[in-house]
Amino acid sequence: MVVDAALLAQARAWIADARNIFVLTGAGISAESGVPTFRDALTGLWARFDPEELATEEAYRRQPALVWQWYQHRREMVAVARPNPAHYALAELGRRKSITLITQNIDGLHQQAGSEHVVELHGNLFANKWLDTCGRCDTVPPIPGDPPHCALCGAMMRPGVVWFGEDLPRVARFRADHAAQNCEVCLVVGTSGLVYPAAALPGLAKEHGAKVIVVNPQPSALDETADIVLAAAAGECLPALLAGESA
Ligand code: APR
Repeated sequence: MVVDAALLAQARAWIADARNIFVLTGAGISAESGVPTFRDALTGLWARFDPEELATEEAYRRQPALVWQWYQHRREMVAVARPNPAHYALAELGRRKSITLITQNIDGLHQQAGSEHVVELHGNLFANKWLDTCGRCDTVPPIPGDPPHCALCGAMMRPGVVWFGEDLPRVARFRADHAAQNCEVCLVVGTSGLVYPAAALPGLAKEHGAKVIVVNPQPSALDETADIVLAAAAGECLPALLAGESA
């Protein structure tokens, strides 16, 4: 990892002095765990599928089996992924300091690494919920490849993720906005900063006086908002950045 030592030291000092730290993570923090990111040209799902065609309610109603199988495929891929040193470094930070961890990821790796109270802005890949419901929905044994249906009204289950064009979960959105406005440091890890409203959070933190630190090996749309950009992979950079004061 070749990161400017002075920048790393300054970022470490801001984190050490901060009472409240707001952390925003994106697909990049899970890249070293083997979870493909949406936009990385080589491995990103963006290159192999057009998520905008699949990750929408309209697409699901139009072709439920295709979309359901895509999510089952992603669940199989993510189920074998394990947290990497970046996830563990954030979990350790959360045991030492007051942090609010907001993630755009749906892979559950922060929780697996031991982070608590993780705010999943875009839901969770392994959760399901009813697309429609009669209020007494109960599932019938699923047919492989098809989404589970309600035995009473025939409603379909859907993945518990936020699809394009849908609002973020209200509580998650509230907690993210509140944390962004009440932190001294905003640490942004592994996001292109292209998808709103998540991408607006570092700017909101900065407006409220926070120092913004970005960790990303590539330039991102949030670099202009950043006070420090650490151009490094999360798995390499975070253990050094977040090691306790005694380290
Ligand atoms: N460490 C840190 N960052 C990394 C690493 C790494 N090892 N590898 C890749 N990155 C960076 C890339 O440079 C890129 O800027 O992670 C970022 C991933 O960007 P995206 O694929 O756009 O993922 P993300 O920003 O999380 O997308 C936001 O958009 O597609 C929707 O719902 C989806 O939650 C996702 C949202």
